[in-house]
Amino acid sequence: MNLKEIKEFLKGADDKLLFSQGESIREKYFGKEVYLRGIVEFSNVCKEKCLYCGLRCSNRELKRYRLTFDEILEAVELVRKSRLGTVVLQSGNDPSYTTEFIESIIREIKKRYGNSIAITLSLGERDYDELKRWRDAGADRYLLKVETFDKKLYEKMRPGRKLSERLKLIEYLMKLGYEVGSGIIVDLPEMTDEILANDLLELSSLGLHMIASGPFIPHNKTPLYEYPSGDLKRSLRAIALLRILNKYSNIPSTSAMASLSKDARIRGLIVGANVIMPSLTPLRVRKLYNIYPGKNESDSSALEDVEKIKNLISSSGFIPSESIGNYKGGN
Ligand code: 5AD
Repeated sequence: MNLKEIKEFLKGADDKLLFSQGESIREKYFGKEVYLRGIVEFSNVCKEKCLYCGLRCSNRELKRYRLTFDEILEAVELVRKSRLGTVVLQSGNDPSYTTEFIESIIREIKKRYGNSIAITLSLGERDYDELKRWRDAGADRYLLKVETFDKKLYEKMRPGRKLSERLKLIEYLMKLGYEVGSGIIVDLPEMTDEILANDLLELSSLGLHMIASGPFIPHNKTPLYEYPSGDLKRSLRAIALLRILNKYSNIPSTSAMASLSKDARIRGLIVGANVIMPSLTPLRVRKLYNIYPGKNESDSSALEDVEKIKNLISSSGFIPSESIGNYKGGN
């Protein structure tokens, strides 16, 4: 598919064809199986100032938290208890967690669970040598969203950060042998059809193992509070297009989708996604990891939440998988 065709689809030229193609490719490569990744959001401290994100350091009204070594491992134990195949260790860009600290968490998880749980790190931009050390310690995957490939928009949305540096890091993560995930935000303020179409093509050219695209959700404690949410239809079109362009990649139906409407996450699965990422962050702090409204707002315990999501998946005709859900394609 070329840029022009993608643009047409994004405008809604033929949703029926697009969605049915996304669905049949997802069906062919993944069937009804949905991989689950338990996210442990262990710190909401962040030194970045991303305009779209509620965790940006300039949001002084947010109460900040950091989990200890033992608290993180307790949350990881819930991943095991709820029989999820992957733990995602995620935080803001919080350098107070040292190379050694993260390294020892990785080693402890591997010591306890061996290779029955895959470890994904999602810690933002860190140094090259630490990324290597964590890989050597046993981390399996790394998530680093590009958010947009449009240099001007990227550098406006992520003050002080450079698109070229982000892309270099992604390339390096690939070289280290991580399964690498990245993604974009659909309908970021000032994102045109042209930019979004190009983002989908660029994302699909990197050979990524995981690809995410979720709608922009305005957060009232950020400079973008007055912009509208991303469009549900365009978000679904983006997922279907990504599935068509990346047959084997693991594609989540994000919690930003769920923020848009109650059934949006399941609709994302139908048209091409195959992954859901429930939060296993302790209830005591979970609401403070509020990247955007709707994220982590449930009042149930982590275990109850996972059960609810599994039930939703099953009752929608999908199968919540216990597999660790590695990338199925070749290298
Ligand atoms: N709306 C939608 N997605 C967002 N993210 C951050 N802020 C928002 C927002 N306001 C996404 C980014 C980030 C991930 C953790 O959440 O893609 O990488």
